[in-house]
Amino acid sequence: MKTIFVKNYEEMSEKGYEIIKDVIETKEQPVISMTTGGSPRGLFTLLVEGVNNGLDISHTVMMNLDEYIGPKDAVYTVNTFMYENFYNKINTQPKEIFLINGEADNKEEEINRYKEVLNTYSRDVQVLGLGTNGHIGANEPGTPFDSTIFLAEHDDSTIESTMREYNIERDQAPTEMITLGFTEILEAEKVILLVSGKRKSEAVKNLLEGEISTDCPATALRDKDNVIVIIDEEAASLLN
Ligand code: F6R
Repeated sequence: MKTIFVKNYEEMSEKGYEIIKDVIETKEQPVISMTTGGSPRGLFTLLVEGVNNGLDISHTVMMNLDEYIGPKDAVYTVNTFMYENFYNKINTQPKEIFLINGEADNKEEEINRYKEVLNTYSRDVQVLGLGTNGHIGANEPGTPFDSTIFLAEHDDSTIESTMREYNIERDQAPTEMITLGFTEILEAEKVILLVSGKRKSEAVKNLLEGEISTDCPATALRDKDNVIVIIDEEAASLLN
């Protein structure tokens, strides 16, 4: 795992953007898998600016790490986030867009459909955010490190984070998600973990200085050469 320390959220987003831009400009058919939430918002803003100012993504395949179980157009879904923050804002579209369908009646079938997508397109980049409890995607504490795409239940702290991020009440907040497991996450050529803010400082301390354990899911990434963690000063504030 390579660690890049930056000053703040803006610098974190710029570093993430530089890496993705380079992949888009150099690969014949770049395959980029994104995450949603607060961590990548700045990165999406830069990507929108880039694309609308000439960064060509017409050869790029885009997909996502996970999706909440709930109506597709709910305010919190990955689907809504991706269209509001990216696809509806860019003036050229990627070659292909893949999203998990969180309202599919048959979750098992949907998981199998997405497995096929993952098998067809090997990802150049997987972008991640870090949960305050150390989760990655919806791989919550206790998830085995050999997990593969599955229907996950959220911890209480994750439900609270979703409420906070999307300004919704508890009874509106999703409690389950289809998520890539650690196995598929780590198959990407580059895994970029974006971490910013005081709220994440405990998880960062566990990630970098704690024991490698399913108690802090992100520690599954620690001894992996393809992982780049970009951490700002506030998130790094508890490190020795
Ligand atoms: C969202 C996801 C989550 C978030 C994590 C951090 O698609 O997979 O694992 O990345 O909860 O959320 P933020 O960035 O909102 O602090």
